[in-house]
Amino acid sequence: MNRDKLLGELNEFLRIPSVSTLPVHNDDCRAAANWVAAELRRLGCEGVELLGGQTHPVVWGRGPEVPGAPTLLIYGHYDVQPPDPLAEWTTPPFEPTVRDGRLYARGAADDKGQVFCLLKAIEAAGSPRVNFRFLIEGQEEHGSQELFALIEREPQRVRADAILVADMSYVAPGWPAVYTTLRGLCYAEITVRTSKTDLHSGEYGGAAPNAHEELARLLGRIKGEDGKINIPGFYAPVQRPSKAELAAWKRLPFKEKDFLEKRVQGKGLVGIKKYSVLERLWALPTFEIHGILGGFTGEGAKTVIPAAATAKVSMRLVPNQTLKTVERQFAAAVKKLAPRYVTATVRFLHGADPAQIKAEAPAFKLLDQAFQQVTGRGTVRARAGGSIPVVPALASAGAPVILTGIGLPDDRLHAPNEKLDLKQLWDGIDVFRRFYQLLGSQRAM
Ligand code: BES
Ligand code: MN
Ligand code: MN
Repeated sequence: MNRDKLLGELNEFLRIPSVSTLPVHNDDCRAAANWVAAELRRLGCEGVELLGGQTHPVVWGRGPEVPGAPTLLIYGHYDVQPPDPLAEWTTPPFEPTVRDGRLYARGAADDKGQVFCLLKAIEAAGSPRVNFRFLIEGQEEHGSQELFALIEREPQRVRADAILVADMSYVAPGWPAVYTTLRGLCYAEITVRTSKTDLHSGEYGGAAPNAHEELARLLGRIKGEDGKINIPGFYAPVQRPSKAELAAWKRLPFKEKDFLEKRVQGKGLVGIKKYSVLERLWALPTFEIHGILGGFTGEGAKTVIPAAATAKVSMRLVPNQTLKTVERQFAAAVKKLAPRYVTATVRFLHGADPAQIKAEAPAFKLLDQAFQQVTGRGTVRARAGGSIPVVPALASAGAPVILTGIGLPDDRLHAPNEKLDLKQLWDGIDVFRRFYQLLGSQRAM
């Protein structure tokens, strides 16, 4: 395949600013869906449809029917996260640019570049004896409401011998992986109100409560300096990984010092000290503050006591925690931790249950062989700190869900200067090409 031509096509996809969480980009999300649909038609798919809402449709398609061959459902997402802060991008997020063998653009790794690999590998494989099905959604970064509704309405859409999800990365350069868990997510806004309107900080300061101060204290109570989250019942269902799994993580090419210096690029790590960093990232729940709104943040100085303040926060959940229970626990904790003279309200925006996958079906071996043949190393088993909300629903009809990816840990997902190494892209197409061919050589599974 001609690499310049492929890169040109991927760039077309990356130039569409399909940010699912911002309504001003609704038309762009639709355009990205159309781009995917056109690709599926070019691959010879039948019944390509845009399903669900007008703005963020799920793209469905089925490859040519091959009687007796295994069925593979391919999942991915065409939506991306907001690109801000724009000033920190070396080249603009929606003007894909290659520098030093890396392709820089929002969505290069998460997930447009990987969707591109999965699709182009079909062409590269010739006509593998595989019954392909496609579900490429446009709300992964925003809770996947349309796809959840679709699977609930029409559960037969996820019937397959295997489901392939390429939306993660290698654990380190040269170390491809298959993931056995994903964390869930509970995203919320906490609003604190302390008075009817803002107040003059001279006339009232010293006696009237301050919404920002109350919010700051409330947030500080929810998670203490020791990293422990003070939500009653929150940790109760959390289980430690087995001894064998913890021992296997010690053999991964992961050094806490490198993680701090090369990836976080900060001065120190936080979290509950008695657990290893990998355990904190992969097997423990979190509480994070994403942003705080309210009060005076304009240029200059204004002496005011803000009446209201809002924090956007989220919790990552681990296996055996459920979104429903955590929502209840969190709302109760906020109520309990806020002083009586404060009105604290919680609004839940979206979320996801955690996912747990037994990576044992025959298809996992085939992917292993494909990586082995292309990169010289098979997959290691790891867990993922991130979330893909719809994975438990994808697994609901019993098909094994293969969670893998061709990106690298330093791809800067959701951050400025997201990139994909071109070597990963070309290897990725080759890996999936081999995988489809190996799968096609199987009798029905
Ligand atoms: N591809 C990521 C998930 C991911 C990232 C898994 C890194 C493993 C390692 C996905 O696009 C993502 O970012 N999901 C969101 C979901 C949320 C908004 C519901 C996430 O994890 O924040
Ligand atoms: Mn993704
Ligand atoms: Mn993402």
